[in-house]
Amino acid sequence: MAIRLGDVAPNFTADTTEGPIDFHAWKKGSWAVLFSHPRDFTPVCTTELGYTAKLKGEFAKRNCKVIGLSVDSVADHRRWLSDIEETQGTAVNFPMIGDPDRKVSLTYDMIHPNADNTFTVRSVFLIDPNDKVRLTITYPASTGRNFDEILRVLDSMQLTDKHKVATPVNWKHGDDVIIVPSVSNEAAKELFPGGWNEKKPYLRVVPQPR
Ligand code: BEZ
Repeated sequence: MAIRLGDVAPNFTADTTEGPIDFHAWKKGSWAVLFSHPRDFTPVCTTELGYTAKLKGEFAKRNCKVIGLSVDSVADHRRWLSDIEETQGTAVNFPMIGDPDRKVSLTYDMIHPNADNTFTVRSVFLIDPNDKVRLTITYPASTGRNFDEILRVLDSMQLTDKHKVATPVNWKHGDDVIIVPSVSNEAAKELFPGGWNEKKPYLRVVPQPR
């Protein structure tokens, strides 16, 4: 059964490179990025894990933890870590789940048998502090993901939650945003006392709230 936006992210216990975890307890009160990669000791995965480690501070600023997964064992992950540090210039600084029995991979539908019967695809789940799934992304094994995009989406969601604004096409942090349609003009006057640019009654543009 696929996991859909708005679902509670299923809880699990697992062994990781930083010791055993209970997922909900580990992320308690934080956002979390749970992502799978196909295999250890593979080139694209090596670059993704190194780059994500470089972004850890950016995720932390946004109260977001990061955790990786593949169907390899924790012992394999540990052996691979030194290669990642050597080639990417950053040590992996977040836990990596070992899932050789595929317990988590199957729960999260990370194995797509018509793509590959054995290995996980490149799944991403962005999960909010209430354990609700807010974003799912699936990439094929041969395409490395853009983790800056995941940060961008996190910024957008946090603005929506806090300020009732949505973000337009190709929005970047600092660009103008859009008042969500569920906010009436009456309510918008309270929320945005500086006013807005009403291009259409349903397209009300405001500077990004700080
Ligand atoms: C990689 O991480 O480089 C990779 C993994 C599986 C298939 C293709 C590429």
